[in-house]
Amino acid sequence: MRNVLRHARLLMVGLLIALPHFVRAEVSAEQGKQLFKANCARCHYVTDKRFVGPGLAGVQDRWSDEANLLAWIRNSSDYLKTGDSYATKLFAEYNGSVMPAFQLQDDEIRSILAYIAEPGDEAKPATAETDGAAPADGAKTEGDNTMLTYVLIGVALVLLILARSLNSVSKALENVRREKAGEEPIQEESINVVGKTVAWMARNKRITAVIALVLVGWVSYKGFVALNTIGVYEGYQPKQPIAFSHKLHVGQNKIECQYCHSTVEKSRHANIPSANVCMNCHKAVQEGPQYGKNEITKIYAAVGWNPEKNEYFKDYAKMDKEELAAFYGSYLGDEKAAAAVEPFIQSNIEWVQIHKLPDHAYFNHAQHVKVGKVECTTCHGEVGEMEEVYQHSPLTMGWCINCHRETEVQYATNGYYERLHQYYKEHKGEYEMREGQAFTVEKIGGLECSKCHY
Ligand code: HEC
Ligand code: HEC
Ligand code: HEC
Ligand code: HEC
Ligand code: HEC
Ligand code: HEC
Repeated sequence: MRNVLRHARLLMVGLLIALPHFVRAEVSAEQGKQLFKANCARCHYVTDKRFVGPGLAGVQDRWSDEANLLAWIRNSSDYLKTGDSYATKLFAEYNGSVMPAFQLQDDEIRSILAYIAEPGDEAKPATAETDGAAPADGAKTEGDNTMLTYVLIGVALVLLILARSLNSVSKALENVRREKAGEEPIQEESINVVGKTVAWMARNKRITAVIALVLVGWVSYKGFVALNTIGVYEGYQPKQPIAFSHKLHVGQNKIECQYCHSTVEKSRHANIPSANVCMNCHKAVQEGPQYGKNEITKIYAAVGWNPEKNEYFKDYAKMDKEELAAFYGSYLGDEKAAAAVEPFIQSNIEWVQIHKLPDHAYFNHAQHVKVGKVECTTCHGEVGEMEEVYQHSPLTMGWCINCHRETEVQYATNGYYERLHQYYKEHKGEYEMREGQAFTVEKIGGLECSKCHY
């Protein structure tokens, strides 16, 4: 009898822990809709209309194997390495635009697919502003929502147990007393499951505490994961207006990063160079190895350079646009290239921003590059090898914090920190600075919320 009871209890513990998983594992088009809006809508329509990426209507018919489709959506760059011919062709068709990797469970992706299969009547195309250029804030709602869901499930469970049990608690407790005193328990039908559970919980405080802990731990873990994956755009690689290649300029022609990103050691932001900086060299360099005159002429159209006379046009802003289009067209001698250059005439080069922290987070380049002596490549990857720049690091809070925990301050080259370090050494005990322990960024307050948040 006791054994049966124990098994029953184990089963119950198991059920309690597993319950939220069952709730979660369900594939639901409703959840899919939320996930789609948060992660996919800035590049895809659910209709067959092309946007940044293909229209997704009927996509499941285009992929014979569901496992492949899931793998593609989770990480298309990895999937392309399998050499799948359909994916390779599609990738080429979209000029090698890379879809970001997603930290989604299989069932979450199935939910998205379920939503795509039956989007309902809300499936209007997104507005023009979601052009895929800037990382949309949408992804945040996903994290918040899942987090909220778990908290709500938790709260609802507690409330349910409380409410349903109050009236049977007293009876159950009475039974416990009777049982202890060796009396017959009341065999009343009205003692329902909840009452029994509560009675059991009262008897087994320790196990109850363990269950509660496991539940709380699980919910916090989920919350933590949700927070950690908020707004992650690792791998983000938008198409740029001019085929500017870091590989060609930095890798082959050995131009220093600071030549173009000249503010990186002086201020918070690294600037994107103006077209005038390009002109320092491109007055002379009029053709490139890959695109000939086609791409460099876009710079000329922006700044008003006449490559035939090697001088700037006078009063460029006031010149007739059609005449200019005709001029650059004949210089290029190629209709398609001329059409591509036309939008640049008398206008600015609109580079697409790749890295972007949310507004509430503060990051300073000068502090990291100049003071901290952190290399560009540590955070941005081998930019000198990149034909097109992509986001190399996740730029999440966890990423910042991990590095602050591990990286030592370069106090030897910094008078202020040298003194601080000396001070810490002399006050070892108070600051938990043991001999040989690393003097990390954490030690100078690099984990304090206010250092990175307004
Ligand atoms: C930054 C833009 C972007 C985002 C965000 C994005 N995609 Fe894509 N997606 C693309 C592009 C571009 C392609 C075309 C293939 C390529 O160039 O990689 C594509 C292709 C696909 C394909 C293959 C379509 C076909 O016709 O076979 C599927 C499926 C897909 N995406 C699903 C998703 C899902 C699901 C999400 C959200 C979880 C998502 N994508 C988010 C840009 C994006
Ligand atoms: C000849 C000028 C030039 C040089 C040299 C150069 N860059 Fe750039 N960089 C640009 C331009 C133009 C852009 C914007 C277009 C693009 O993203 O490719 C850019 C963009 C970037 C971006 C992405 C900015 C964003 O939108 O988030 C990073 C990161 C970057 N550069 C890092 C580097 C690093 C690191 C080096 C040195 C290894 C370097 N650059 C050298 C011109 C230059
Ligand atoms: C410690 C990590 C780290 C290092 C080192 C670093 N960057 Fe950045 N970089 C970032 C982050 C984070 C952003 C996004 C900043 C934002 O949105 O405020 C960024 C953004 C940029 C941008 C886009 C413009 C901007 O400032 O928002 C450029 C260009 C850039 N970095 C170039 C460089 C170059 C060149 C170097 C080396 C001289 C460098 N970075 C070193 C983390 C780093
Ligand atoms: C310090 C000199 C220098 C600066 C500054 C510079 N470039 Fe270049 N650029 C070069 C050289 C050198 C080449 C390669 C010429 C060759 O190999 O034939 C080149 C080639 C190019 C090409 C041709 C690519 C191809 O394969 O056809 C483009 C486009 C280009 N640069 C754009 C830019 C832009 C945009 C800027 C400003 C953000 C810029 N460059 C700034 C030196 C420079
Ligand atoms: C590759 C390692 C690395 C990464 C990644 C990194 N940091 Fe840092 N950070 C440092 C170093 C090293 C210093 C110490 C600079 C110094 O000596 O003052 C520092 C210092 C700071 C400081 C000043 C701390 C203080 O107490 O004065 C702030 C604020 C900061 N980082 C914000 C960020 C943010 C925000 C991110 C993420 C977007 C980030 N860092 C990512 C290495 C890193
Ligand atoms: C070293 C820098 C750093 C420190 C220290 C830091 N944060 Fe952050 N935090 C960030 C960055 C960067 C982001 C944005 C990450 C993203 O968008 O994925 C962020 C995001 C967040 C978010 C998510 C908000 C959202 O929805 O985008 C919260 C909440 C948060 N931080 C709270 C805190 C608290 C509380 C502390 C102190 C215990 C703290 N942070 C300390 C850098 C830091």
